[in-house]
Amino acid sequence: MEVVILPDGKAIAQLGADAVVRLLDREPEAVLGLATGSSPLGVYRKLIDRHRTGEVSFARARGFLLDEYVGLSGRHPQRYRSVIERELEGQVDFCYGAVQGPDGTAEDMPAACTAYEKAIVDAGGIDLQLLGIGTDGHVAFNEPGSSLASRTRVKTLTAHTREDNARFFESVEEVPRHVVTQGLGTISDARHLLLVATGEGKAGAVRQGVEGPVSAICPASVLQLHRHATVLLDGAAASQLTLAGYFRETYAAKPAWQGI
Ligand code: GLP
Repeated sequence: MEVVILPDGKAIAQLGADAVVRLLDREPEAVLGLATGSSPLGVYRKLIDRHRTGEVSFARARGFLLDEYVGLSGRHPQRYRSVIERELEGQVDFCYGAVQGPDGTAEDMPAACTAYEKAIVDAGGIDLQLLGIGTDGHVAFNEPGSSLASRTRVKTLTAHTREDNARFFESVEEVPRHVVTQGLGTISDARHLLLVATGEGKAGAVRQGVEGPVSAICPASVLQLHRHATVLLDGAAASQLTLAGYFRETYAAKPAWQGI
């Protein structure tokens, strides 16, 4: 795992967008794993800017969302499918149908989950998966206790996550209890994992995920088992890391050609 500590969200957005631009440059048909939540928004904004200047095109790329709320109607603004449409997809040149997400309204949920897994495999697997981290260490909607080998399935949100996500809704009661999410095993199949975290509120989860034991109690710790995982942090999110000094030193001495 590579941990990169940067001065602020702007620098994180820049480096995260660089990784996507480089990938699409190399492989215009790349498959992107798209996260929602506030963490990846800076990266998306940078990508939109760079698309507008003609530096990057998504015309041949595909995207898969990590997760979705169960039961939100097609037009609900907090449906993750709508969020990604607003924050990225609709502002760049993805082809119609190139971005898909788990179906939170399917009648046969297990069948929809199996179909989603198959769609990812049929697309050739995910090349670069963007991730955020919940304050309890969850990734996508894999709450603490999730199997590190799990696949796409329905999960129940903890009260903690519903409180955290209430800021996107009118009230906590409006936050759905159930969600459908790629499993930690599904996420681990992506060829590159890129987790972004900023702010003091994430420091405890980041410490557990990066330096704690690999354990279902902290789903983000599954990144420790991945061959190519990059964690982009600001100083506040990195503030509880024992190895922060070492991570800073390593990145400062990294040859530019290596990228992340
Ligand atoms: C939600 C999402 C996760 C996200 C997490 C953190 O629960 N399902 O994918 O990583 O929240 O959100 P934020 O980036 O807004 O802090």
